[in-house]
Amino acid sequence: MYKDKVIWITGASSGIGLELTKQLADSGARIVLSARRRDVLEEVVSQLPGGASRHWVAPLDLAAVDELIPAAEAYLKEIGPVDVLINNGGISQRSLFLDTDFDVYRRLMDVNYLATVALSKAVLPAMVARRSGLIVSISSVAGKIGSKLRTGYSGSKYAVVGFMDCLRAELAEHNVACLTVCPGSIQTNIAINALNAEGEAQQKNDDSIINGMPVEQCVEQIIKAMSKGKDEVVIGRGISGMAPTIKRFFPRLYTKLAAKMEYR
Ligand SMILES: NC(=O)c1ccc[n+]([C@@H]2O[C@H](COP(=O)([O-])OP(=O)(O)OC[C@H]3O[C@@H](n4cnc5c(N)ncnc54)[C@H](OP(=O)(O)O)[C@@H]3O)[C@@H](O)[C@H]2O)c1
Repeated sequence: MYKDKVIWITGASSGIGLELTKQLADSGARIVLSARRRDVLEEVVSQLPGGASRHWVAPLDLAAVDELIPAAEAYLKEIGPVDVLINNGGISQRSLFLDTDFDVYRRLMDVNYLATVALSKAVLPAMVARRSGLIVSISSVAGKIGSKLRTGYSGSKYAVVGFMDCLRAELAEHNVACLTVCPGSIQTNIAINALNAEGEAQQKNDDSIINGMPVEQCVEQIIKAMSKGKDEVVIGRGISGMAPTIKRFFPRLYTKLAAKMEYR
């Protein structure tokens, strides 16, 4: 299904994006890898089937939102049309609202939300012209429910869910599909890289992530959802996967649970 398809993946240097890169390249896709760390991306490409002759390294800083559209357009001139864009690169938060610098909120919105908008804007005209394409955005269970320590992260991930719902409605007549992925706790470096109140990486893991779903399993489910043409999928074990359903059917119970839980 993905043989020779061009798939642009942000956050391809680690975690979910790295595993998406490996599994999709193994199924024959040609990958455009983005993240900040060029050396890591080059090392990843060297291990993929076909190496640098089949895949592209396209470093981007998703926080530099004003530069993203021109940077992406320059890459597209070199690469040609993209069949699938996966907006995956992102950063989390572990800090209470009352303690957190305002700049942390701006950074989370830039990286998690505005970068998704900017890259979608760059690739969509060609998808619409060809009447073919898929935009995948990795939101989070935190884009469906709120919990402590994530006011900025959850806000940015709710924004992604809303953006994708509207985009899906607008693009239906152009035959371009939109998949929103809401993972629960997945075993990656997300917690280690999560921002603290001062905007520094907290540099420690969380129990929920350590006990979360293995990244390989999460990515298998993402690719299955892509292949089946799903609109939205929640992927997670235990409470992290069930929380959106609890909130939907028992909203007051969820409110009480969220206020009690020190969810890390
Ligand atoms: N793991 C979970 O439990 C979980 C749950 C729900 C949602 N998610 C979402 O899944 C996505 C992937 O996260 P992960 O779990 O794989 O975490 P991860 O292991 O920390 O990977 C994050 C990726 O994002 C990239 N990134 C971060 N800031 C960037 C920036 N300013 N510019 C460009 N790239 C940047 C990183 O690359 P560089 O550092 O090389 O730039 C890295 O490749 C995120 O959107 C996250 O919010 C994860």
